Parts: sequence; C-alpha cells; structure tokens
Amino acid sequence: MNEMTNSHILVHEFTYLEPRTVDEAVALLHEHGDRAKLLAGGTDLLVQLKIERIKPDVVIAIHKLPGLKGIVRADGETRIGALTTIRAIRENRCIGEDYPALADACRAFSTTQVQVMGTVGGNLCNGSPASDSAPPLIAFGAELELTGPAGVRRVPAEDFFTGPGQTVLGRDELLTSIILPAPRPGAGSAFLKMSRVAADIAKANAAVALMREGDRIVDCRLAYGSVAPTPMRAKKAESLLTGQLFTPELVARAAQTAADEITPIDDVRSTAWYRRQVVDAMTQDGLNQAWARADDTAYSVPVLSGVEGLPTPDAGEEARYPQSTIRNPQSAIPIPHSDIIDEPATGATVTLRPDEKRRITLMVNGVQQTLWVAANDLLLNVLREDMELTGARYGCGIGECGACTVQLNGKPTLACLVLAVAADGGEVVTVEGLQAPDGTLDPLQEAFLDHAAYQCGFCTPGMLMTAKTLLTEVAQPTDDDVRDYLKGNLCRCTGYASIIRAVLSAAERHV
Ligand code: FES
Ligand code: FES
Repeated sequence: MNEMTNSHILVHEFTYLEPRTVDEAVALLHEHGDRAKLLAGGTDLLVQLKIERIKPDVVIAIHKLPGLKGIVRADGETRIGALTTIRAIRENRCIGEDYPALADACRAFSTTQVQVMGTVGGNLCNGSPASDSAPPLIAFGAELELTGPAGVRRVPAEDFFTGPGQTVLGRDELLTSIILPAPRPGAGSAFLKMSRVAADIAKANAAVALMREGDRIVDCRLAYGSVAPTPMRAKKAESLLTGQLFTPELVARAAQTAADEITPIDDVRSTAWYRRQVVDAMTQDGLNQAWARADDTAYSVPVLSGVEGLPTPDAGEEARYPQSTIRNPQSAIPIPHSDIIDEPATGATVTLRPDEKRRITLMVNGVQQTLWVAANDLLLNVLREDMELTGARYGCGIGECGACTVQLNGKPTLACLVLAVAADGGEVVTVEGLQAPDGTLDPLQEAFLDHAAYQCGFCTPGMLMTAKTLLTEVAQPTDDDVRDYLKGNLCRCTGYASIIRAVLSAAERHV
C-alpha cells in the first residue's frame, strides 16, 4: 500500500481506552496484551496507525495519567516522568546545568511541534536505534523504572534495548520514570547529531559523559545511536580514555577505536562508511566539548586505590561516584516547570468502542464547542469538516510539514496526529482565531502581508500558529530562534527569508 494513501484520515478502527491511574493502565495492558498499543504523545503511534503498519484492536491512551509528568530531584537523583515532553526536558534549567548532553539531545530532536507533543518515554519505548534521548541517558548511567502487575523494577538504560524496535519491556509493563544518578563533581557532557536536514532522525548521534580531575580524564562513557541495531556504548574506547591524561592524541585514538567498535549499516539515510567517519569526528568533538564543560576543580573523591584521587579502571560504579560528593545534594526538591501536571485521578476509565461516538467539549477560538467523535477521528478532521475551520491544512498527514499546526492548550500542535477524543477538555486556537472579532488582523498577520511572506498560502496558517506561539514564549527572538522554532513548518514556494523577516518584524511591534 502507498504509505500516503490514507494519511489524511485514520481508517483503522479500534477501541479507545483512557485509564485514570497507572494501576488501571497496567491492568488494561495485562488484559489486552499484544492486541493493544499505548498512546502517549502520538507522534509515532498515529503515523504507524495511519500508514497501517500496525493495526491494534485497542489503543490505551496514557497521556493524562497523573504523576508521570515533570522532573523532580530527590536524594540526589533526578527523576523524569515518562510522560515528560522532550520540550520540557530541553527547557528545564536543572537538566541544562547538570545533564547538558540530555538538553542538547532534546534541542536536536525533530521539530518544535514534535518536541512539544512527544514524550521521552515514548521515544525510548519505540526502541529505535536512532533515538536521540537514549545515548545521553546511557552515557549518564540512567535507569528506567518499569511498572507491571508484579510491581516496579529498574533496568539500566543501556540494557533496555534488545533490537530494532524491541526492548525488555514486558507486554503488560509500562515505563513510568527515568532516573538519572546524582550530578557528579568534575562532570562534563556533550551530545552531537548528524542528520540530512535539521528535523530528520540521525544518520548518527553521539553522547559523551566524562569526569575530569585537572588534566586527567577520570572516567568516561561514550554512547551512540543509529550505528548499530540498538543504541550502544563504545566500551573499548571508554577503557582507553579512563585514567589517562587528556591529550589530542588520546582523543584521536579513542575516536578511531569507537569508529571501529560500531556496527553500522548502509540505509536510506547514510552509508556504513560515512557513519564511521561521522562517529570518529563526533567523538573527538564531543570529548573536547565535554572536557571544556567539566569543572576541573570540582572533583574531590577520596583515594580509592592506586594513584591519589583516581579510582582504579576496574573500580565499580558505586566506588567511582560516591553519593557523598554530589554537587547539588538537595533532597526532594521539585524542579519548577509548567509541564508538571500531577492532578489527582478522577472518574473511571474512558471507553469508546469502534461503533460508538463520544461527546467531547473543546474550547475553540474562545467558544465552547460540544462535539460527537469516534475513536479514530482526528482533531484535524473535526476542525475542518465538523466545524468548517479550514485554516489548518491537510499537508503530509504524518507530522512532517507543519501545515496542520494549531495551538492546543497553548502549544503548537500537529492536529493531524491528535485523536479528537484524546483532546477532550482542551483549548484550541486555529488561524481563524488570530484575528479580532471585528476582523482586525493580528500584528503577526499584518507583518506577513507587509513582508510578502507567502505565495500560494498553503503553509501560511501553520507558519502563523507556530510563530505566534514563539512570540508568546520569547518576546524578542533572534534570527536563530525563529529558524529553530519554525524548522517543522515547510514552505514549498516562498522560501524562508521573508517569513523570518516577518516574524522578527512582528516581534519588534511587540506582538
Ligand atoms: S499535515 Fe500535519 S504535519 Fe503535515
Ligand atoms: S507559501 Fe506556498 S507553501 Fe508556503
């Protein structure tokens, strides 16, 4: 079947279940097993459903489960809820300061809309060898908390992946949290990615997490994506580096060793040969960047054996990173972020069978709307066909062009990848909602007119809605800010220079 044939609608029918608690979700997984798929951010599952690569009987939507969003530090560890969005991690100050490679990876992750919608748990559970979040988590020695009928178990991130699209997750288990070990003294980290275009998945990516004492590299982890059947560590290169003076020659030797350790393939995105070259270069750049970021005076681990202050190369992880030397030893400090939603669960599991419709309410452009929707109705269809708000466009239908972008609960969202029933209770703004009731255009729309930032106009509503959100979040964006924020909105005719000029001009008018 042509993958694009049905991308504008969701043909496949399923029963939609929306549990209210983690226990309910686990029970539903246990009951439906392989017949069910979990829906979190939807940026991958909805695409798979549309192109009919998967045909589950049941979709279990977990996006409203309480307690799984947000980032909290307790007893030195940093706990990231599995439903925390990539954007929330990218913008979290403590992640940026203590785990910069993870913040870098989230910055390099796909488009703004996918960062806003996609969750870190979803990215990991896809089991993609090209995951951007996996290498930094592996490099930091993170653990994943899996919740199932038998309780909770922890799995090291590096042991989570078992093959392309495969993980150790049981059929009735849920990834609930990611736990990062305490920030380490003398630590530095970096993440690099090579892709065909900015929003594409990686040809190869690399994460480096090291510990520095003076001129010596005390410990190091190197992790890579898109160069093997699973995200992987380069342990031979790590051994080469550990305990050595940090020199350009050592860095070059380690990079070559890492390039030899990976097992890349030729595919549509790159060749195995090129991936080895890229890994060599990224390892050198990543090591130098992580080294420069490391605080060479912070390391104060007592003598363990051998050289003063240095653990032996075969010392265990516990010995290398004693908890007493954590840099920020606060306990149970919630890290403020607007993405933290931990409301108590209410009501019963929502059930919507294929032959039923359910009443939902949406606030659309400031007006409360009541709609009857089927389980597989998309928000884009409901807006365009039921409400005749045709500003949001059908473009690719699979999350790649940004033409369908609307604001959902204040965030730029791809309406082609949202189930209408999952948006129940939400607030939607479409391009029709930008202008005032008397028809006065929004200053951003005026700026697009003034700068001729459109030709056919097909992409323009999506551009406007994404840019409007940027200007809400950043009053005076730079040229780079605009380019980065709009990278998920494609224009086939105008080109981007006039669009960027229009957005910057609107910012100057204090939109
Ligand atoms: S139509 Fe939604 S991203 Fe292209
Ligand atoms: S103006 Fe035609 S696609 Fe952008």
